[in-house]
Amino acid sequence: MPYYTILMDFPLHGRSFLRELDFTNDEWAYFINLASELKTAKRNGTEQQYLRGLNIALVFEKMSTRTRCAFEVAAADQGAHTTYLDPSGSHLGYKESVADTARVLGRMYDGIEYRGDSQCTVEELAHLSGVPVFNGLTDLWHPTQMLADALTMKEHSDKPLNETSFAYLGDARFNMGRSLIVSGAMLGMRVVIVAPQEFQPPSDVVSEAEQRARESGAEIIVTDEIEAVRDIDFIHTDMWVSMGEDEAVWDERVRTLLPYRVTEELMEQAGERAHFMHCLPAVHDNMTTVGQRVFDRYGLIGAEVANRVFEGPRSIVFDQAENRLHTIKAVMVALLGR
Ligand code: CP
Ligand code: NVA
Repeated sequence: MPYYTILMDFPLHGRSFLRELDFTNDEWAYFINLASELKTAKRNGTEQQYLRGLNIALVFEKMSTRTRCAFEVAAADQGAHTTYLDPSGSHLGYKESVADTARVLGRMYDGIEYRGDSQCTVEELAHLSGVPVFNGLTDLWHPTQMLADALTMKEHSDKPLNETSFAYLGDARFNMGRSLIVSGAMLGMRVVIVAPQEFQPPSDVVSEAEQRARESGAEIIVTDEIEAVRDIDFIHTDMWVSMGEDEAVWDERVRTLLPYRVTEELMEQAGERAHFMHCLPAVHDNMTTVGQRVFDRYGLIGAEVANRVFEGPRSIVFDQAENRLHTIKAVMVALLGR
């Protein structure tokens, strides 16, 4: 696998970052290596600025803490400026179309981040704006999260990524489940998706992952059997109800996904080296509005993960959150750097 460094040209310059499958397996690994170098440089005080004077629009039609902050801090570290458009802060979708917004932003900005429901919207922005567009999460894919997850697993494993394994439990039909199976396949990992059948990734996504696995040597397992978590390096989960979904689906999710909750017993089953990961936000206690609602309605403290796992010694969720910064920086440097 080729290993590039930031001292070389940026081989992906000018491209958009819309979904994992738009990149080759080697290009995907390149982002992770670049992020690792940028992280080390920031820590050592030797970071070079490759984005000086550039302007980047951050368009969020859904809420965010990590993704927004990572784009803003990464841009500032690299000498670029950002404009944040919040879910109600522009005409997009109300009296201005995606097509018109794309052409306006493309005249003013060097790059555009977009978060919303629709993959078609982020694709259209990329097609019509004429500048690189970064997918900050749609219902189908969460590719910037994948790079942070991969960097975190690399840092917490004593083996190369292609000898490392992870399991994802929960709703695997949505952005996190779909992106994890594909990204793991591209990196040559052993990927175990553990979900009830109706929550498993669609067959076209599994086929794409299997195709990439044939190239990378990855192993892909999709099952509803919880025992499949045995002897695994990392356990991932995600919120049972994602942004934009109706509150009413909580009843069905709790009923169906409760056996797939990440508990201390499940971590024991996974084996002694297993670490816990979560893209966050997580429902792990009753200290938030959502957590309190889950407690009042179902008598559960936490939903997809038990608080003792989330707060326990095997949890690496805040390392994972920090890596959103370094990996999003790598995406912007790779695609816009000069
Ligand atoms: N993991 C993630 O995307 O977090 P935010 O929703 O806070 O951006
Ligand atoms: N599946 C979650 C991920 C949040 C980062 C959502 O879409 O809300």
